[in-house]
Amino acid sequence: MVVTRASGGDGSDYVHSTFASRYVREPVPKWRMPAHTIPKEAAYQIINDELMLDGAPRLNLASFVTTWMEPECDQLIMASINKNYVDMDEYPVTTEIQNRCVNMIAHLFNAPVGDDEAAVGVGTVGSSEAIMLAGLAFKRKWQQKRKAEGKPFDKPNIVTGANVQVCWEKFARYFEVELKEVKLREGYYVMDPEKAVEMVDENTICVAAILGSTLTGEFENVKQLNELLTLKNKETGWDTPIHVDAASGGFIAPFIFPDLEWDFRLPLVKSINVSGHKYGLVYAGVGWVVWRSKEDLPDELIFHINYLGSDQPTFTLNFSKGSSQIIAQYYQFIRLGFEGYKNIMENCMEIANVLKEGIEKTGRFDILSKDMGVPLVAFSLKDSGRYTVFNIADSLRRFGWIVPAYTMPPDAQHIAVLRVVIREDFSRSLAERLISDIEKVLKEMDAFPSYIVSSETAHLGLANDGHVNKTVKEIQEDVTRHWKRFVQEKRTGVC
Ligand SMILES: Cc1ncc(COP(=O)(O)O)c(C=O)c1O
Repeated sequence: MVVTRASGGDGSDYVHSTFASRYVREPVPKWRMPAHTIPKEAAYQIINDELMLDGAPRLNLASFVTTWMEPECDQLIMASINKNYVDMDEYPVTTEIQNRCVNMIAHLFNAPVGDDEAAVGVGTVGSSEAIMLAGLAFKRKWQQKRKAEGKPFDKPNIVTGANVQVCWEKFARYFEVELKEVKLREGYYVMDPEKAVEMVDENTICVAAILGSTLTGEFENVKQLNELLTLKNKETGWDTPIHVDAASGGFIAPFIFPDLEWDFRLPLVKSINVSGHKYGLVYAGVGWVVWRSKEDLPDELIFHINYLGSDQPTFTLNFSKGSSQIIAQYYQFIRLGFEGYKNIMENCMEIANVLKEGIEKTGRFDILSKDMGVPLVAFSLKDSGRYTVFNIADSLRRFGWIVPAYTMPPDAQHIAVLRVVIREDFSRSLAERLISDIEKVLKEMDAFPSYIVSSETAHLGLANDGHVNKTVKEIQEDVTRHWKRFVQEKRTGVC
């Protein structure tokens, strides 16, 4: 460890680096711009040393986001790192490459695009931006229709499951759309299509289904949703559409569950987002949104700029952004092809199975993830009387593993889970090592008197001998409160 803290105050206002002292003796202030220039070697050394304190990305099992790419692709990324994507007239080949990617994805998702037609879609920074754009398109279309009918258009809502990723809550808050969430229940951790359709009303701009729930990887039943919503639309005269949030599942299902109908094969599915930086196999910073047809993307949302050269249509939230990720996505598409993606996804699934079986074998966990879904294992403790999944997550950190623990959304918030995401760079031997480390952690914790300290045991209605003096409901509420506090203090990123 080579980073030290300067003395003075709490010692946290300066960064030092042992090796950088070869070039510079003055500490560098942390919170204000330094008054003087330092040699480039020193700047590099100081930052590089400090970054050593970050976790190892490849052991970060919390994230779906790609942590390894081939060196040839790294070269392409570095070669294009100085290209601003928005300068389309100056970098027409990069623009063409993004358009090729949009078309490849639209075909993968069975968009009704003729051979000589162009698909409608755009590259984004990630699924969050893609979802904002798709949501805006639905909101605007719904408003146009309501205005034309002479009806109020000030109370739009979206129906989703309570398991939606935070980007949907952001969309709802930033763009003033009410989020109507279908509650979960114990044993059922995705949106129930029947309940979702019941919640649809004349102000519903779309129902958002998830292909690959962030919490358990499970695919929601988009086909059933499409059927039920078609019936409701017929009865009511509304034409409520569906958006599929395929952030993770969009690059899984086409390759290993090709017969599963979740995409543009279903008539009410009007737009789909997918994260290029998740199972699209590109480093962080790329997502995609595609629309079924031109009619589903209102023209008024598209801006035309001409000061960079020619007329350029843009539909993004940001203006400038890097080109590297788009180029990297294209590299993966042509390098791997359908066959390569299929092999990688099958391999991830096999490793998820090895891990699942190892975890089941301990006899201590319930598996919440499903075989048809994203390659991940979500599991909860059968008995949290003496220690919780949060204690397990903490202990696994000692071995270098970053495994998130979190509680489920309402009404299943009394269930707390651990989740391990299997990415391409997570090998079978790492899975076996993780199983053996989980076993070690369990053994250690079993030997310890109780991980839930006495004040907490009291909170949980447990005397120190484990005797219960509260009702089951009271204990469940206490456990939820306890875990919520715990999560707030220890929030491990779930993305
Ligand atoms: C289902 C789902 N939707 C949206 C997102 C947000 O994606 P991004 O990180 O690409 O913005 C995530 C992230 O994990 C997700 O799991």
